[in-house]
Amino acid sequence: MTHLPKQLHADDELYTKLRAELADYTVENLVEAFGEDAYTSYQREQRALLLARTNQLLTEKPSEQAHLVLLTRLFLLGEEVDEKDLQLNHVSSEELQQAGLVHLKDNRMSACVKLEPHALEMNEKQYNWWIASDFPSSVTGKPVEKDHVLGIGGATRTLLQATPRDQVGRVLDLGTGCGIIGMYAALHADEVVATDISARAVMLADFNAHLNEVKMQVVQGSLFEPIKGDFDLILSNPPFVITPDSLRETGILEYRDGGQTGDSLVAQVVAGAAAHLREGGLSVMLGNWEIPEGADPQLHPQSWVANQGVDAWVVQRETLLPHHYVEMWLRDNAPAWMRSQADYERDYINWVNDFIARGVAEIGLGVITLRKPVSNRGTHFEFSEISTGTSASGPYVKQILTEVSEHHLEIRDTDFFIRADDVREERHYLPGEPDPQIIIATQGGGFGQRIQLNTHMAATLGACDGELNIGQIVTAISVITGVDKQTVEQAVYGQIPQLLLAGMLTRAK
Ligand SMILES: C[S@@+](CC[C@H](N)C(=O)[O-])C[C@H]1O[C@@H](n2cnc3c(N)ncnc32)[C@H](O)[C@@H]1O
Repeated sequence: MTHLPKQLHADDELYTKLRAELADYTVENLVEAFGEDAYTSYQREQRALLLARTNQLLTEKPSEQAHLVLLTRLFLLGEEVDEKDLQLNHVSSEELQQAGLVHLKDNRMSACVKLEPHALEMNEKQYNWWIASDFPSSVTGKPVEKDHVLGIGGATRTLLQATPRDQVGRVLDLGTGCGIIGMYAALHADEVVATDISARAVMLADFNAHLNEVKMQVVQGSLFEPIKGDFDLILSNPPFVITPDSLRETGILEYRDGGQTGDSLVAQVVAGAAAHLREGGLSVMLGNWEIPEGADPQLHPQSWVANQGVDAWVVQRETLLPHHYVEMWLRDNAPAWMRSQADYERDYINWVNDFIARGVAEIGLGVITLRKPVSNRGTHFEFSEISTGTSASGPYVKQILTEVSEHHLEIRDTDFFIRADDVREERHYLPGEPDPQIIIATQGGGFGQRIQLNTHMAATLGACDGELNIGQIVTAISVITGVDKQTVEQAVYGQIPQLLLAGMLTRAK
């Protein structure tokens, strides 16, 4: 049984006491006590294993790590605990209630919010945080409320990973939810502003920032309406789920639905970010876009960025057919067993029909990155379809977006290129043949991609150590192979942009 908090707040003294009380409630201790499998399955919204492990410890060794076991049952598993058993050392049960974290009745305590330990490393420093959010339906056994505030999920992690972590001035986290994106940014920024339309999200983000001693201003309001000034970095995991009106009859699920038709909310976030970036500033956001029947997948993102005065690199990681998209997000609504079959099927059909009626053939899912150019040479748009490998990490995002923005992927004879250290080459031969039929460049970092190379590009990649410029390398290959220079140049200059966009090559300064 869980209770939604009316207020979640503490003063400085209570925050200090809370940190002391929660000191043993860390990811490391959870994994050690309950096992990596129980912890990771909980993160995938499966609580059964973690619950079983806490039951086992309570039965077999009741006095061992009782504090950790009971905090876990209270704040991760949504179980009631006896306040005497919890043996609080630094705060009283009443103070936990006063902060809005728990509800007390007849000496029984139940959590009003999920409070999840979170470990991170930034600039070689370790942090152990606690992040308050709403309990998912996998814990409550009920569909989530309309103003549900998400904890750290898969999309959150994708954005955290894709964010460049250089020291910056001002950062905006738009649609902050529990605050985690802005809180990470606060570790490498002078100032962070986090916004959300939801009053509960603002309350939770503010609480999390204070609890973890992170400096972040949290403001309530829709999109860019409460924003003043420009930013060096704009981050957003916006409510991008393309939702039909038929699903909104009982209200809008704020955490994922921006309440607009089709994918126009993401278009507004792109336009707002473009308008609020400082020169040289970057924006990284997640998005979904509609691909109309017979259209190029990049049609919508390209139209969003056109005339906004920013360079853009959009990475489409996946495309889904409408019915696959609907199934994914209906699963997110609530596990099927929580809904009546009739409700589920009605929502399914209405949602698919909405896509069909608006001529949507597929939905693209990915990352949109923007950069406000420093020069006035015009802007550039790049669209990559990369479904293999991993999501790119922040340093690659910055490197590639800067290449797109400053050089528009143009190649001049006098340019120097450097091969990334983790690029390797695979050669595939027909048995008995001396020459390879297929040459593939692979990379550990970046997107972890595999790119088939033409033979001239393979030779060039081997020589890209920054010693010779690309014109000199092409000339040398032409002389050695006896192939005319124009042919080599076409083969090499035609493929370099692909390798730059994969992070396999970088341009030397
Ligand atoms: C997908 S959640 C992301 C939460 C968090 N940033 C994360 O990455 O886990 C989207 C957030 O956007 C907020 N939101 C929805 N509509 C909004 C709007 N019009 N303006 C600002 N925020 C909005 C929701 O309340 C929700 O917290």
